[in-house]
Amino acid sequence: MKANSFGRRLTMTCAGESHGHSYTVIIDGVPAKIPLKTADFTDSMQRRAPGQSDFTTSRKETDEVQITSGVFEGLTTGAPVCLVIANKDQRSQDYKNLKEIYRPGHGDYVYQQKYQHRDYRGGGRSSARETVCRVAAAVIAQKILQKTKIEVIAFTQQIGPYQSQLSYQEKLCLKTKQIDQSAIRCPDNQVEKLMQDYIKELKAQGDSCGGICQIIAKNVPLGLGEPIFAKLKSDLSAALMSLPAVMGISFGKGFDCVTMKGSEFNDQQVIIDDQVSFLTNHHGGLMAGISSGQPLLINLAVKPPSSIALEQKAINLSGKTEIIKIEGRHDPCLLPRIAPVAQSMVEFVLADHYLLRSPGFN
Ligand SMILES: Cc1cc2nc3c(=O)[nH]c(=O)nc-3n(C[C@H](O)[C@H](O)[C@H](O)COP(=O)(O)O)c2cc1C
Repeated sequence: MKANSFGRRLTMTCAGESHGHSYTVIIDGVPAKIPLKTADFTDSMQRRAPGQSDFTTSRKETDEVQITSGVFEGLTTGAPVCLVIANKDQRSQDYKNLKEIYRPGHGDYVYQQKYQHRDYRGGGRSSARETVCRVAAAVIAQKILQKTKIEVIAFTQQIGPYQSQLSYQEKLCLKTKQIDQSAIRCPDNQVEKLMQDYIKELKAQGDSCGGICQIIAKNVPLGLGEPIFAKLKSDLSAALMSLPAVMGISFGKGFDCVTMKGSEFNDQQVIIDDQVSFLTNHHGGLMAGISSGQPLLINLAVKPPSSIALEQKAINLSGKTEIIKIEGRHDPCLLPRIAPVAQSMVEFVLADHYLLRSPGFN
């Protein structure tokens, strides 16, 4: 399992299991002299943490980040920064009955077949709790991006059949604070209640639901992305598709391009007041895999969480079919929780590409 590092100039290497001692992430390639202290992580870690509302799992974790290397007298030294996040609120007994059975839709079956030995508690390495590492690493990415005007936001665009009706222009004005005022991170007040009722209804039935998380990166300068195998769209896709429960990614108009004509899809350009302008942003801020200077617009399809209380058929370690009902604390819908994690991954990729384009950092 040698694939726990991500990035090019700026890398993160992650380790840890859901019910193990702790998670560790080593961020290498961090420029020297960036101010960094444990309190810098608090807001981001709290935004990712479970137990914030009725719409997420009630597991409570403080997710305090310990800095164990790479910082001296409050400043990064250019050496690898190592961060440790302890696991505190495990309830491994909830998972005892899952030792002998493969939960449908989880990694249990493939992990067991591939490695012949697995930590079944809370999904072990396959647990989405690993995203603490990504969010912690992105706090450093945010500090690198402070040298630019890049700003990344992520929010709930759709849950089940209910879609946000905010226009592209309205979305461009959104701020993270505003998004976080909604318990499900949907900044459209008109549909928020419908989405909440839908989640509650499915939760009451012991079921779960999926949706779309939208990410917008504003003020991305033209020129990020390295042809041909480090295109910005390839690295963003790798970063975001590696997130648990993400089933698809699209940029700009995405799959709608299939039914559009070239004359409709092309982002035409004009000069207004001596400035190059695009009439549309159907490509989602990228052309030939290079940022165009327009906002990046990304959609993620997020599946309904697999852990549901309804009866389902599953197979056990002895190869027999059983009926399973999943107990424990689980998210009935992942949309409220995935936005901060997706935002973090985009920030990390943009910081990485920014450093690739900016020689002179030590
Ligand atoms: C932040 C976050 C929280 C999650 N919480 C749960 C959960 O409570 N219950 C669940 O069944 N899946 C949850 N998932 C999804 C599973 O981790 C994921 O479906 C599983 O590891 C299998 O991976 P795959 O969906 O990518 O195939 C969560 C995902 C994320 C990103």
